Amino acid sequence: MKIIFIGPPGSGKGTQAKRLASRFDIPHISTGDMLREAVADGTELGREAAPIMAAGALVPDDLMIGIINDRLAKPDAGQGFILDGFPRTLVQAEKLDNIVGNGQPALRVLQLLVPDDAIVRRITLRRTCAQCGAIYHLENNPPANDSVCDRCGAEVIARPDDTEEAVRKRLESFHRQTMPVATYYKTKSILREVDGVGPLDVVFERIEQSLVAGGKLSA
Ligand code: AP5
Repeated sequence: MKIIFIGPPGSGKGTQAKRLASRFDIPHISTGDMLREAVADGTELGREAAPIMAAGALVPDDLMIGIINDRLAKPDAGQGFILDGFPRTLVQAEKLDNIVGNGQPALRVLQLLVPDDAIVRRITLRRTCAQCGAIYHLENNPPANDSVCDRCGAEVIARPDDTEEAVRKRLESFHRQTMPVATYYKTKSILREVDGVGPLDVVFERIEQSLVAGGKLSA
């Protein structure tokens, strides 16, 4: 099972990808998480990426392709994976074809559909565990204990790129640079559109249904 999640910022890619990875026992590969780890570790990549991410822009393709190439070469990705946040540009999508093999029959692309006006509210109320990456929402899915992660007990914080200004920039970049990627996969008839509005469990059920044979293909 090789799955790509596409969706605007705050559409629930990370939330749902974590659940799906645990259900299918395959790695959840989030380029956003990998970059945030690099920033926290103070690596060269992290120092280059931090200001770009904070501004809501995209990190250069060559850096991202290198990261994914290395990650997918690891043994745990051999049986399947969920890619969350990659590819985000047509250049990245074409390179991914070379990495996983063009026409890869097991590849499924899920596009989470959430209107822009719902996104800003979701993101400005999002909180993320600084240690394990667990995702919360102050209204829909709050941690039991204020700013403490239910899972690991570390601090739960707002991401530096979750300001309204950065979110609007990320949305603009999604429409301009990532929507063509959705069209790219639609043309290959491997894109499935999933309504991302509704309770978390309902969206998860829709995702599972879209993955079973006979699920609605958007093409
Ligand atoms: P990344 O971390 O990938 O950010 P993103 O795509 O903007 O997505 P988010 O993590 O903001 O949202 P999400 O869809 O995962 O939603 P979530 O589940 O958290 O990338 C960050 C940055 O890194 C980029 O801006 C870029 O700079 C760089 N980058 C990463 N990959 C790159 C690449 N390939 N190329 C270039 N640059 C790259 O949910 C959001 C909130 O909503 C949460 O609070 C959640 O609890 C809540 N929620 C979820 N589902 C629901 C629901 N059904 N109803 C109500 N609330 C919900």
